[in-house]
Amino acid sequence: DGAAIHPTIGAIRSMRKSLGPATRVGFVPTMGALHEGHLSLARAALEENDIVIASIFVNPTQFGEGEDLDRYPRQLEKDVKLLSEVGVSHVFTPSADSMYKKNHVTYVDPCGFDNTMEGISRPGFFRGVATVVTKLFNIVQPTSAYFGQKDAVQCALIKRITEDLDMDINIKIMDTVREDDGLAMSSRNAYLSEEERRRAPIVYTSLMAAREVFDSRLSRGVETVSADDLREVVEGVLETEPLVTEVQYVAIDDTTTMQPISDVGDGGCVISLACVVGSVRLIDNIVLR
Ligand code: PAJ
Repeated sequence: DGAAIHPTIGAIRSMRKSLGPATRVGFVPTMGALHEGHLSLARAALEENDIVIASIFVNPTQFGEGEDLDRYPRQLEKDVKLLSEVGVSHVFTPSADSMYKKNHVTYVDPCGFDNTMEGISRPGFFRGVATVVTKLFNIVQPTSAYFGQKDAVQCALIKRITEDLDMDINIKIMDTVREDDGLAMSSRNAYLSEEERRRAPIVYTSLMAAREVFDSRLSRGVETVSADDLREVVEGVLETEPLVTEVQYVAIDDTTTMQPISDVGDGGCVISLACVVGSVRLIDNIVLR
């Protein structure tokens, strides 16, 4: 009655091949340490498909030098239980060695994403994500795949690669799930100390402050708000919190291309940021329309 675990590429492939051509297959790729954000993707997938496959794979190629690959939280048994409870029937859990075999040389390189703020602060990250997601799509061959708005640039990237590489997969983007105090759910929140956790909602507060400025100026009849003004509002709020030890970027981008814009009007924008709370790097974003 629990979800079936498929630890090899061969096992998930033969299960996939056993499904009829009319079966709608929903796919939720994850790195595990699951929380309500991940589970919301699984629930959406269950509503729109006949079966749902989740993957749990801590992908080494998207971790940079000195990042948290080795200490990334791993809790396979608990994750499979959570997925089973929401109704996911298959979980793909490949090993790193099977995903990147001895002579692996082929990568999917999304050049246009290297110059996004997230791309600049994490060299190689989007190449790793694009490569593993392409591999997972080739293995699982889903009808639709589900991603969270929490990782805004990742969403734009996945839409880009499926279009650029002619993949016949519907990409569905789901809203960011937050804790009651506004903190975006993330597996990395587990790294926060008690005090850091108490202060971390400042990240969302800073984004909401920018939304307020944007909305109030537009309601006064102003046609555009400068990105610099919005950035200053966000940075101003973050600066009030001593535990925010570094603001890596506050980016104001076009909602589809994720390229920077200087004036925000009718078309709206995504405000995304990365900062360090204590010693934990957190990201968040909101969409303004
Ligand atoms: P991971 O960080 O485990 O996230 C898996 C999926 O859950 C992603 O689509 C992410 O955007 C979504 N997610 C995370 N937190 C969320 C939240 N609070 N609300 C809504 N959705 C949320 O993102 C990755 O893994 C990897 O890069 C992956 C795509 C699996 C490739 O390795």
